[in-house]
Amino acid sequence: MTTNPTTLSPAAERAAALDAADPLARFRDRFVQHPDVVSYLDGNSLGRPVAATRERLSGLVETTWAGRLIRAWDETWMDEPTRLGDTIGRLAIGAAPGQTVVADSTSVLLYKLVRAALDARPDRREIVADTENFPTDRFILEGVAAETGRTIRWIEPDPAAGVSVDEVRATAGPDTALVLLSHVAFKSGYIADMAAITAVAHEAGALVLWDLCHSVGSIDVRLDQTGADLAVGCTYKYLNGGPGAPAFAYVAERLHDTIRQPIQGWLGTADPFAMTEAYAPSPGIRQLISGTPPIVGMQPMQDMLALIEEAGGERSGTTGIAAIRRKSLALTDFVIDYADEHLARFGVRVISPRDPAVRGSHVTLEHPDFRRLTAALWERGVIPDFRPPQGMRIGLSPLSTSFAEVALGLDVLAELLERDATTADG
Ligand SMILES: Cc1ncc(COP(=O)(O)O)c(C=O)c1O
Repeated sequence: MTTNPTTLSPAAERAAALDAADPLARFRDRFVQHPDVVSYLDGNSLGRPVAATRERLSGLVETTWAGRLIRAWDETWMDEPTRLGDTIGRLAIGAAPGQTVVADSTSVLLYKLVRAALDARPDRREIVADTENFPTDRFILEGVAAETGRTIRWIEPDPAAGVSVDEVRATAGPDTALVLLSHVAFKSGYIADMAAITAVAHEAGALVLWDLCHSVGSIDVRLDQTGADLAVGCTYKYLNGGPGAPAFAYVAERLHDTIRQPIQGWLGTADPFAMTEAYAPSPGIRQLISGTPPIVGMQPMQDMLALIEEAGGERSGTTGIAAIRRKSLALTDFVIDYADEHLARFGVRVISPRDPAVRGSHVTLEHPDFRRLTAALWERGVIPDFRPPQGMRIGLSPLSTSFAEVALGLDVLAELLERDATTADG
């Protein structure tokens, strides 16, 4: 195995052919590259910056902020959370306008929606969730359960797969108020069956809240079509919103009159500047806002959303998610094939689904030495991430990732494993 650029490894040769045939290859140049990073394999954790974001941010400072100052609230900023929410809805999560808003972090929006859902089912005492969900989802849920005297019924799914329809059917019942699940599992990358699970939860009379952090921007999510009730998702992964970018929340329109969120702030009221005595929630999705919208943090994701739209082709208004999903599958296939051909002999195992229909945009590999090897890769400018106990996540953000950089990164990993094996033999 070699990373010498003059003699391509077999994987690098295959990658070059795939890049040459990739209809989305040209998008990679639209992201800011850095010479220290030779292979970025963690777009599912923090997306790369879009180059246009430089101009957008300086435009905000020089023109809107400096020039319009407080007037910009009335002119554009006040509606930015719902305008941006509608764009995310249209391009990335299959939500008609008026149901999505950008505000707060994923954790805070989870809190608001969990509380709101429980209040909407006051006679039901149980929440259904799974032990493999991301820590913040489990922690928020435990906090709200303690606060409201509810019981959590935990599903313990196969960690290499994810929560199945049958598991939800067996756990949700007449006392279930809410089912909270991740659409794409953060460890394995397994895609839960949103439509079937939502239907099963509804049969039990429960609401469903989907965490879309690992789906939005990489998978064709259809919230309206699947009948989902509630959703949250972060924007710093596949929407390239930057570190700490605010999250979004979705509430299906049919619930707008029944859902009440618990953090009653002035900017979620119908007329904030009336400075009224009593809280009167804004009609529609705006009610989810509590305080001043994070306008600065809402800028970078707009450039990625524009690229997602552009990836859809010439017709404006279309979304590029279908094309992005096709490339995502080609990238994850590439990683799985590589692992089988070049890494399995060192004891590396693929724990993500092999079935493309239920595989998200990252592949998790396991090996007992991956904590140490992830650190060694980072030193070489190859950046995956490590998830305990022994998982290396290879996150593949389709518009910013070339097959060549994936091959290069994996070749370095194979080289490190080979070196360890040789040292051990010797
Ligand atoms: C599934 C999931 N939910 C939530 C979060 C994070 O929540 P927050 O944006 O509040 O940090 C992550 C972060 O990686 C995640 O993967």
